[in-house]
Amino acid sequence: MAGIDGGPRGRIVLFPLPFQGHLSPMLQLADVLHARGLAITIVHTTFNAPDPASHPEFTFVAVPDGMQDAVGAPKDGIGKILSMNAAMEASGCVRDALASILAAEPRPACLVIDTSLPAVQKAASQLGLPTIVLHTGSAAVVRLFRSYAMLHDKGYLPAQEHELNKPVKELPPIRVSDLFDPSKYPNQEMANKILDIATETTTNSSGIVINTFEALEIPELEALREELASSGVNVFAIGPLHKLSTIGDASSLLEQDRSCIEWLDTQAEGTVLYVSFGSVVPVHRDDFNEVAWGLANSGKPFLWVVRHGLIIGSQDTELPDGFEKAVESRGKVVRWAPQQEVLAHHAVGGFWTHNGWNSTLESICEGVPMLCRPLFGDQLANGRYVEDVWQIGTLLAGKLERGKIEQAIAGLMEREDGTTMRERAKELKMKVAMCLKNTGSTQLAADKLVDHMLSL
Ligand code: UDX
Repeated sequence: MAGIDGGPRGRIVLFPLPFQGHLSPMLQLADVLHARGLAITIVHTTFNAPDPASHPEFTFVAVPDGMQDAVGAPKDGIGKILSMNAAMEASGCVRDALASILAAEPRPACLVIDTSLPAVQKAASQLGLPTIVLHTGSAAVVRLFRSYAMLHDKGYLPAQEHELNKPVKELPPIRVSDLFDPSKYPNQEMANKILDIATETTTNSSGIVINTFEALEIPELEALREELASSGVNVFAIGPLHKLSTIGDASSLLEQDRSCIEWLDTQAEGTVLYVSFGSVVPVHRDDFNEVAWGLANSGKPFLWVVRHGLIIGSQDTELPDGFEKAVESRGKVVRWAPQQEVLAHHAVGGFWTHNGWNSTLESICEGVPMLCRPLFGDQLANGRYVEDVWQIGTLLAGKLERGKIEQAIAGLMEREDGTTMRERAKELKMKVAMCLKNTGSTQLAADKLVDHMLSL
């Protein structure tokens, strides 16, 4: 779709947060906008930079984020996000980059930022460039993260050990154990700040794009629209972005080991458990060993992603002694998989996931039921929704033990509850197909978003 003179209908600038689970949806959104006739400029940090060669239709502008140079740069995600915002604000590099982009034709209509980039929003506002935020999680989580003052006021937080099972009656089906509790984080002030930032950037924007679809989160989207109406923030449910866009997994920061697809081709339909804990969550060595022996003892075929840095405090991802012999050809371990393709493979019958939102949504899209082991942030709420609301998975709570894991795998892969979850997952998959049709809710929301952007 082009403008009346055959050129682009306008230009949009996008600035992703440089982590896999955030970078991919932003590039997918860029692709969706490009397909609707808009020219795209991606401004990005030098840390975890996207590969311009994988997206020749976009213009890329890198800004220094200070991450590589900083002595004692924080290792954890929250620390990195806060220090990168501080460095970019202090150097003025984003404002300079945006000012040059604004000086060229076509002048950008707006800037889309990740909700965790207030420094970028501030620079845009100084230049009079309106912003729209992309929230890479669910609508339920946008509401949850905006409710932290209430959760403290009402005494749900800091969480008390004896109240973990207590329902948060203002946000059903969330329980206290599903809350990201800043008081448990080593630096409480930073954890509170990251929650405040997401609320602040959303309220200061003219719209929020959420990687979800209407039929998945009907009451959550309705409540959110009501809550944001007074701030004049429009809500666009434009997901699943990886299905709406055509870029597939071109945004992967790590090289994908495709040998697992050949291995899956040799497995029977619906028999393989796919296991992955995403791009950032680390696990303790003891837990890692329990996972390994739980998989080995389950007797089921599995494909397990063991990425570099998965084990806390160790670059070594060695499997426990005797594991490979016990498993033989029944198990396949890779450093990084082409996950979307894996989940769509006919051999895959279940997904043991940490419930990062991208993984959760990718599983929903392929009708694959889940074994949920959420660990941090939004993953806890995502796992609760999978079990209680969509009923397409079960939570694996408490200490990880091989016997418990073995039982949970059997429940998902062979028992009746697994079959029922699989049926429900297939129904949800059909709803995904509906929202992606020409007149489906996601397509219409994407059209509305473009109109909104061009009206700014
Ligand atoms: C982070 C947070 O942990 C998550 O809670 C939040 O919702 C998004 O940001 P991450 O932990 O990486 O993300 O999880 P997830 O959101 O699931 O994203 C992982 C992405 O990596 C997925 O798109 C998945 O397809 C991809 N992936 C994962 C691969 O391509 N190959 C793999 O082997 C594993």
